Amino acid sequence: MQRVVITGATGGLGMALASLLDSQNSELVLVGRDEVALRALNESLGSKHQIRVADLASADAIDSLAEQLSQQRVDVLINNAGLNEFGEFTDVPPATIEQMFQVNVIAPMKLTQAMLPALVRDKATVLNIGSVFGYIGFPFYATYSATKFALRGFSEALYREYKDQGLKVLFVAPRAIATNMNDARTEAMNKALGNTTDTPEAVALQIVRALREGQIRTVIGFPEKLFARINGVLPNIVDKALFKQVAAMRKFARK
Ligand SMILES: NC(=O)c1ccc[n+]([C@@H]2O[C@H](COP(=O)([O-])OP(=O)(O)OC[C@H]3O[C@@H](n4cnc5c(N)ncnc54)[C@H](OP(=O)(O)O)[C@@H]3O)[C@@H](O)[C@H]2O)c1
Repeated sequence: MQRVVITGATGGLGMALASLLDSQNSELVLVGRDEVALRALNESLGSKHQIRVADLASADAIDSLAEQLSQQRVDVLINNAGLNEFGEFTDVPPATIEQMFQVNVIAPMKLTQAMLPALVRDKATVLNIGSVFGYIGFPFYATYSATKFALRGFSEALYREYKDQGLKVLFVAPRAIATNMNDARTEAMNKALGNTTDTPEAVALQIVRALREGQIRTVIGFPEKLFARINGVLPNIVDKALFKQVAAMRKFARK
C-alpha cells in the first residue's frame, strides 16, 4: 500500500485526487489549512487517513510539516496547493504577487527540500501540480504563469539532479478545471473563448495515470498539449494567436 501526501487536499482537485487514490487503496496524508474541512474529507473517506493542518504561507508551518512527514515512509508527495489571480497585471497587489510565489513555488520547494532525505530514502515520487500556463505565458495571468514556469523549472532540474538516486519528479500541467479557483469572470471568459474546462475527477484520473506510469512531463488536453510544444519552439506563432484574443479577454479581466 503506498502512502501519498497531498497538499491542498480540501480544494477541488485535491479532493478528487484523495477520493481516487483512496479508492485505489492508497494510505493518504491529507494536508490543508482548514481542520474542519480536512476532518470532513477524511470522514467521507471512512476516517482511515491522516490529516495535517498547515498554512503553506508560513515557513514555520512548512518546517514542522516536513519534520512530521519525514518520520514515516512517504511514497508520493503531491504538491497540489495553489493560488491563482485573473486580471490585469496593474491591478495585482504586490502582496498578492508575494503570496502566490510563496504558496505556488516556495512552499513546494521548501517542503520538498526539507523532506529530501526521507524522499530519497524511500525512493519516492514528487508530483508537482503545474498548469499549461507553466508552458505558455498567458495574458492576464502574468503572476500565475510566472509561478508555474518556476515550478516547472524546479521540477525539471530536481528530476535531472536526483534520478540516479531513485527519486522521481513529475510535473503535470492541467488546463482549466472546474474548481473554486476559477471565479465567475474566468468561467464566462473560458465559455466565450471556447476554452475547455475539465472536471476535477477527469484531471485526477490523468494525474494518477502519470503517477502510475512515471511520466515525467504531462500536459493535459488537446490542443493545449500542442500549443505548449509550439510555444517552446516557435513562440511567435502563439504570440499571434493570443494577440487576437487579448481584447476579448480584457473585457473579462478588467475590475
Ligand atoms: N482550477 C484550474 O483551472 C487549474 C488549472 C491548472 C492547474 N491548477 C492547479 O491545480 C492545483 C489545485 O487547484 P484547484 O483547482 O483544486 O483549486 P482550489 O479548489 O482553489 O484548491 C486550492 C487548494 O490550495 C490550498 N491553499 C491555498 N493557499 C494555501 C495556503 N496558504 N496554505 C495551504 N494551502 C493553501 C487551498 O486551501 P483551502 O482549501 O484551505 O482554501 C485549496 O485546498 C493548484 O496548484 C492549481 O494551480 C488549477
